[in-house]
Formats: sequence, structure tokens, C-alpha cells
Amino acid sequence: MNMMSEREASNRIEILIDQINHYNDLYYQQDISEISDHQFDMLLEELTQLEKDYPQFKLDYSPTQRVGGTVTKNFATVTHKYPMLSLGNTYSIDELKEFDGRVKKLLGHQNYRYFCELKFDGVALSITFQNGILIQAVTRGDGWRGDDITANARTIKTLPLKIHQPDLPELFEVRGEVFMPNQVFRQLNIDREAAGESPLANPRNTASGTLKMQDSQVVAQRKLDCYVYSLMEENQSYTTHSQSISALEKWGFNVSKTYGMCSNIEEVMDYIDRWEMLRLDLPLVTDGIVIKVDSFTDQQKLGFTAKSPRWAIAYKYKSENQQTVLRNISYHVGRTGAITPVANLEPVLLAGTTVKRASLHNANEIERLGLRIGDTVFIEKGGEIIPKITAIDLQKREADSKPVSFITECPECGTALQRQEGEAIHYCPNLKECPPQIKGRIQHFIQRSTMDIDSLGGRTIELLFNEGLLKTPADLFRLTYEDIFNLDGFKDLSTRNLLEGVENSKNASFERVLFALGIRYVGRTVAEKLAAYFKNIDNLATATLEELVEAPEIGDRIANSIQLFFQDPDNRQLVSQLKEAGLAFEVKQEAVNLVNAHLSGKSFVVSGVFESFGREEIKDTIKQYGGKVLSGISGNLDYLLAGDKMGPAKLKKAESLGVTIISEQDFISMIKSNGSNL
Ligand code: IVH
Repeated sequence: MNMMSEREASNRIEILIDQINHYNDLYYQQDISEISDHQFDMLLEELTQLEKDYPQFKLDYSPTQRVGGTVTKNFATVTHKYPMLSLGNTYSIDELKEFDGRVKKLLGHQNYRYFCELKFDGVALSITFQNGILIQAVTRGDGWRGDDITANARTIKTLPLKIHQPDLPELFEVRGEVFMPNQVFRQLNIDREAAGESPLANPRNTASGTLKMQDSQVVAQRKLDCYVYSLMEENQSYTTHSQSISALEKWGFNVSKTYGMCSNIEEVMDYIDRWEMLRLDLPLVTDGIVIKVDSFTDQQKLGFTAKSPRWAIAYKYKSENQQTVLRNISYHVGRTGAITPVANLEPVLLAGTTVKRASLHNANEIERLGLRIGDTVFIEKGGEIIPKITAIDLQKREADSKPVSFITECPECGTALQRQEGEAIHYCPNLKECPPQIKGRIQHFIQRSTMDIDSLGGRTIELLFNEGLLKTPADLFRLTYEDIFNLDGFKDLSTRNLLEGVENSKNASFERVLFALGIRYVGRTVAEKLAAYFKNIDNLATATLEELVEAPEIGDRIANSIQLFFQDPDNRQLVSQLKEAGLAFEVKQEAVNLVNAHLSGKSFVVSGVFESFGREEIKDTIKQYGGKVLSGISGNLDYLLAGDKMGPAKLKKAESLGVTIISEQDFISMIKSNGSNL
């Protein structure tokens, strides 16, 4: 660090920031990679080190801000320079025509056009740029004053932190909608459920909650995105909204390509029709469209009411809803003993599928709705996959019906349920003997992201459990050929397959085994962190509370749960039996010091099915040899590892981007070689 003068360090930091921001924006805005992932990581590493050595030169628009690190205790309240108004909205085409009539009348001419956009269902954000640098991001709040969440906004990869453009106004604000992509939301809930946490209700609330988190590092992991839809500046440089949108696109902002220009209200109606179904294929939830008069002069003429502009309106798509009758409520018991009430309905057709059930989340939800068995209810499909009950038709209620009272005993084992003070969820505390909890733990143990024993499914677990052969994951490794062959539906080949699947699972890495144990709150990411930090199970099992919270990102809640797990003699026995069976309870040497780092710096996308590896196993192997596994194909990808039954679209995309496509055999030779043929 003494090698460099302060001036050199400061210069180098600025150069690195500009370079990395440039590559980052190209990648996220235009899907272009000018350098490999590895080169990119090296630049970032150099910058991170320099910023550590010379903290006085750290800049707000440094890409290192993207990974977070700032913890804000209380967000400062900021008064908006331009208030963040709401939009008038309607569900009716007639009212839309009335809106058009008003516009025509107030403008006194017919020479106007509408710019139509989708209405993104997220959280509105106002972001200020000065001299091209993102200096502040504020939530809508009450429209006049919002929260300063700048550190969290900087983690949104598609928001530029610094813009180099000749025609940039010195000071401007962009408004946009922060959202959690549906896929990210689904994965988050899968991970939460795997860690025994309750699922989050919908992407919008999740995005909103995430933006208000105090630790921006956690925000960065939540992978929020942002579509930008307006530009505000003191001296308007453009005369129409469409021009300002083009400028935003040119400056590298993420503008959804779904907009359309319409010459009259009939064309607006065509736009509405066109997007009604197409919008369901978009990566986020949308609930309507926004229609804006394009000319700024016309917008000024039309002005505002107290709450909203007269030059714009939102048309909302009716979320499909239906009436049906609540037959009864059943209660599902999960792996962690959490009880989820489910509404069983008279089957009814909704948005193309027959609906028989709706989720009710927990006792509070039943109380909030005031449900009674036999009630006629309205059900709706929102952003969620399972429909929900939104309201009750009280007029149709039978006079003698009684409120639903939540069960007090586990429907599966009869144990009295418990509910912690302040918690919404009831739990069955009988984790040792309650059948769905036992089967759930085994199901969790074998699933793809843990031990990946795909020759074993829910039905077989049920059979083995009923035969008394399977009570803990350790029993899996004691199963004999006869045990399985004698089960209903098993033949020689399927029996051998199952045994082979169990045997192969012994290759799973320590972090997977740790995740598979099903310790509450220890999901995939937490398990990876714990494995990397504690290196083996004994270090983890004997760690004190203080030692546990020393580990990166481990808080009291997780630490307590780990301690509780290892205090239980049955769990300690399970671990020792699994150890005996040959499962990995320490990080592999290669994974730590990368002796065999043949694949170092190379990135892979894995697709299709393989002969000698499970899908997760092949990914682990790549990582073990120092390679990186990516989920999507882009220009900077090194290899597409193509198995059987791979989709043709992926192949085509890889070919068109010049990505090297390799077979399983090629891959095996690669890892066997010393890396010289890469
Ligand atoms: S323009 C004067 N365009 O809808 C308000 N808003 O109800 C101008 N929204 O707070 C807003 N997509 O959060 C605009 N394409 C879009 C939008 C959009 C979603 C949200 C935004 C706003 C709310 C207004």
C-alpha cells in the first residue's frame, strides 16, 4: 500500500470506478460484455482493496456501493422538490372516453397524442442526479415528503450511479418504479420456506419492505430492479414526454420497452387490448396502463387537480374475480410444524383454471375476513399463483352460521398447538412424532437444492414411512435392496436407481449437507456462509453464541436456532449417523485452497440432463474446480455445458453469442486435465 502515492491511489480509484460502472451499465442495460466475468471481478477486487487502504478517496458512485454495506438506523425525511402525485384511475372504457373528452375540451384542439405505458406494480421512487452522479433517492412517502433511501437504491444494478453523456442536464430527477421481479420473488419464498420461514405475500410488499431495510447488504441480495418512467428538470430540455423517455433510454436508464404512442383514444384501446394478456409474460406484476398526454405544453395547459394531473389517467385491468362458496377449512402441517389454513371451495372457473382452494395464510387472516363456513366469498388471482379470498358477500350469509374458530390441536397428531406472543403462525410442537413433520424433514433432505436424490419422491417417502423404514434422513442410508424392492410398484431397475441416488448423494458438499439438516432459519445462503466460516460441523456445533454471531451475517435469531438444534441429543445422533454413512461434514480441501482450480475464472451455464452427474452435482463440481455457475446466457459466458434434452432456444442463443458449447464428456476431460486445454 505504500507503493502508491495518495495521488496515484485517488486517480486509480477514479479510473477503476469509471471502468467498472461502464462495464456494469453495458451489461445491465444492453446485455453486452466487453470483458470476461473474471476480468470484471479482478477490477472490482482491486477497487475494493484500494478503497479499504484509502478510505478518504471512496466515492458515493463507486460500484462497490452496489453490494451494500451501509446501515441506516433512521431514514432522513426529505421534502420532494416536485410533489409525487397519484393518478386518477378507472376500470371502465366509458370513463376513459370521458377523460379523452375532457382533454379535448380543455385543450381546445384535437392535435394531441397519448403516450401509453404499463402500470408497474411496485414502489415509486424519485432519484436525483447532479453532474451525472446519483446523489439521492427518496420514496414517495405521503407525496410531499419521503424517506431518503439512497444507500439501498444504489444496490439496484440497473440504476446508473454515474452517467457520462454530453447532453445531460446539470441537475435532474427521474421517477420510476422499484420492483422485485417475479422470479426473484418466487425463489426468495422457496428459500424462506426451506429455512422454515413464512412466505412473503406478494412482490410489491416485498419490494417495499426491502427498500426500507436498514442494512443495504441485505437489500443488495434481494435483487430489486427499477423501471424509469419520467424525467423532471427545472428548464425543460424536451418538448414531449416521448422525447424525454428516449433521452432516459440513451443515458442508460432501464425503460421498459412496452410503451406505445397512440394518435387517438381508439389506438389507446387497441394498446389496452394488446397488453391485457401479453403483460402476464412480463418479468413483473403490472396492474393496468398509464395514459399520458405527450406534449409538455399541452400537459401544462391541462394542469393538475389537488391530487393528480389532468393530463394522465390509469386504466386498471379488472383482476379476474369470482364468487364461490367456502365449503370448509383444512389445515396443512409443514416441515417445521407451521400450520397453514387452506380454504376448500366449491370449484369455480377463474382466469382459465378451475379453482378449488385458496390460501388463508394464518389465523389473523381468517379473523380479518370474518369468515364463516358456507359463506359466499369473492376470490381473486393477483400476482400470486394461489388465489386468495378478498371479501365476503354478507347478503348471502346464512343466519345461523358461526365464525370459524381456529383449531387448537394438530390435525395430524393431536398435540395442542402453540402460538408465540406476537406471532401470526400456530405451530405443532411435536416435531419428533408428528408424521408430516417427519416426512417433511426427509423431503427437505432429498430435494434438489440439498442432497438432490431425485430417484426418491414424496410417494416413496410415504411408503417407506408407513412401513416404518424411514423416520430420519439417516435411515435412508440403511435401506437395503429388499426394503425397497418389496415396496408397492418397485421393480429391479427402480430399486437399483433409488439406491444409486442415495449413494451418489454422498458426494454432496458440506454446505448442502448443512442446509439439508433443516435447522430453522438456515437456508441455502446461510448454510454456505456457515460452512465457509466454520469449516466443519464440530466447530459449528460447539460454537458459543458469541462465536456464532461473529460469523458474517449471522444474527441472534439464527445463532439461537443453531444452538437449539445441537442441544437436542437426537440431532447430535443424526449428525453422527450421517457422518458414519460417509456424508461430508467439512469443506473440501479443494474448495478452500483451490489446488485443483482448473476452471478458475471460467463461467458456465448448465442445461439439460447428464449421465454421470446430477444437475446440482455438476454445478458443485464446477465450483469445486474454481469455476463459476451462471443462470443466464450472455456474451461474456465462457461455456454452455449442454446435457441431453436441452432446449433449442438456449442452444441458439449461445451460438449466436459465440459461446463455446461443450458436452458432458468435454467437461470431464477438462477437469481431468491440468487445465492447459482451456
Ligand atoms: S407516472 C403524477 N407511469 O402509479 C403521477 N406512474 O398512481 C405520475 N406507476 O405513484 C406517475 N407505473 O408509483 C407513472 N408507467 C408509469 C407507472 C406509474 C406505475 C405508479 C407510480 C405512481 C402511481 C400513481
